[in-house]
Amino acid sequence: MSIINFIEKYRKSKRTLFTTPSHGQGDFVAPQTLKLLGHKYFSCDYSEIEGFDNLSHPSGIIKAAQDAAARIYEAKSTFFLVNGSTSGIVAAMLALLSRGEKVLIARNCHKCVYNGLVLTGALPIWLLPKYNRDWGIFESVNIDYLEEILARNKDVKAFIMTNPTYEGAMSDVYRISAVCRKYNVLLIVDEAHGALWNFNKSLGTPSLAQGADIVVQSLHKTAGALNPSALLHISKESTVNPQMIQQALNLITTSSPSYPILVNIESTINYLNSSKGKMAAYDTVKNVNRFIRSIKTIPNLDVYSYNNDVTKILVKVTNMSGFELSDILYDNYGIEDELANEKSVLFLTGMGTTKSKLKKLEKALFDLTSNNIKIYQNSYETDRHFVPVEPRVRYIPALMWGKPSREVELKYALSRICNEVIVQYPPGAPILLPGEVIRKEHIDYLQSTNRQKIRVFV
Ligand SMILES: Cc1ncc(COP(=O)(O)O)c(C=O)c1O
Repeated sequence: MSIINFIEKYRKSKRTLFTTPSHGQGDFVAPQTLKLLGHKYFSCDYSEIEGFDNLSHPSGIIKAAQDAAARIYEAKSTFFLVNGSTSGIVAAMLALLSRGEKVLIARNCHKCVYNGLVLTGALPIWLLPKYNRDWGIFESVNIDYLEEILARNKDVKAFIMTNPTYEGAMSDVYRISAVCRKYNVLLIVDEAHGALWNFNKSLGTPSLAQGADIVVQSLHKTAGALNPSALLHISKESTVNPQMIQQALNLITTSSPSYPILVNIESTINYLNSSKGKMAAYDTVKNVNRFIRSIKTIPNLDVYSYNNDVTKILVKVTNMSGFELSDILYDNYGIEDELANEKSVLFLTGMGTTKSKLKKLEKALFDLTSNNIKIYQNSYETDRHFVPVEPRVRYIPALMWGKPSREVELKYALSRICNEVIVQYPPGAPILLPGEVIRKEHIDYLQSTNRQKIRVFV
């Protein structure tokens, strides 16, 4: 029986529960919450009581739902995550890496990879993907560079990369996985932003089908599910032991998983896999493509379109920084983007992106480029743009954990050891991590953001 059918049936059984959660399926809800959210969500919020399953040792309805999902994704195992892709990536690292083992990581990784480094004690080796200065974004992983690093470091255990990137840029995972296999390296792909690919192949080829060992996807990012629902898949061909992943997930996951989230994970997958769901995904992508074609006709506007997932629409306007464009859209048109950088602005779309939302954005872009551009032209002068440099790791993140630090003026920080996590958020990629040497490029960038101080190791 599906999780959703089980809960529906259970609600009708009218059992008297003396269990957590103490709201008693909505017999108590704080009044303001009730006003905002209503009662229904609470009425489906159960603990893992008699008849329910156990997310840390699934054997009933959760196991059946995960097995069904694995069949849909053509995976050896699929795990439902109630704490986002963050927990999937950290668990994959905990399962595969031991203290001191080398892990190669593409530097445009999400900050949660740092959490995994602290918890595992693994030694990071960093790979800088191609950087596109015109758009201010990382692009694909260079395969020759990857091979060169692996040939120099024969003891690398795993490679962690992001595909697609936050901005939608894709790498050739087929070739990357072949290189990883050649060097006996396990491939973990953070596909947080590619969760719709399985249901609309025009967006991109899922990394699992391209040979990755482990793939982690956020269902909340594009696939229309609740925050922070996500999935971890192990490939059928992989040597990764599902039991190790389960144990690692159990180390870091709550013992009170949210059943509303589990229900939503299950039903989102089943719907997207149905013909209606596939049609809805098709329509979403069609509308987005139509929108992109239309805004491409705006003379002063450019849309990023080089081997990317079109649900992430990266736009720049001539003589206007991304920050400016973002501010104008927010202040004058009530439109909020996902992120802005010096060069461009990112609009994230997904299952909930309606035609009318796209229409509103389209109108605003036409309007601001034809009417307002002269007002803003060249008014943005500071360069708040970090061009990534090769990180120099002096101490591994796990060794730095809890080590003393103090703040120093940036002008005195050159060559000192950073002892704080500095990420560009969004997208959440690290600029400096604890244990890394502070370089001139870091200081210049941080000063350009009006920052005065940095925390260093003492
Ligand atoms: C590339 C990437 N990976 C992982 C994550 C973490 O995902 P979640 O929010 O599902 O934990 C994010 C979140 O922004 C992300 O952008």
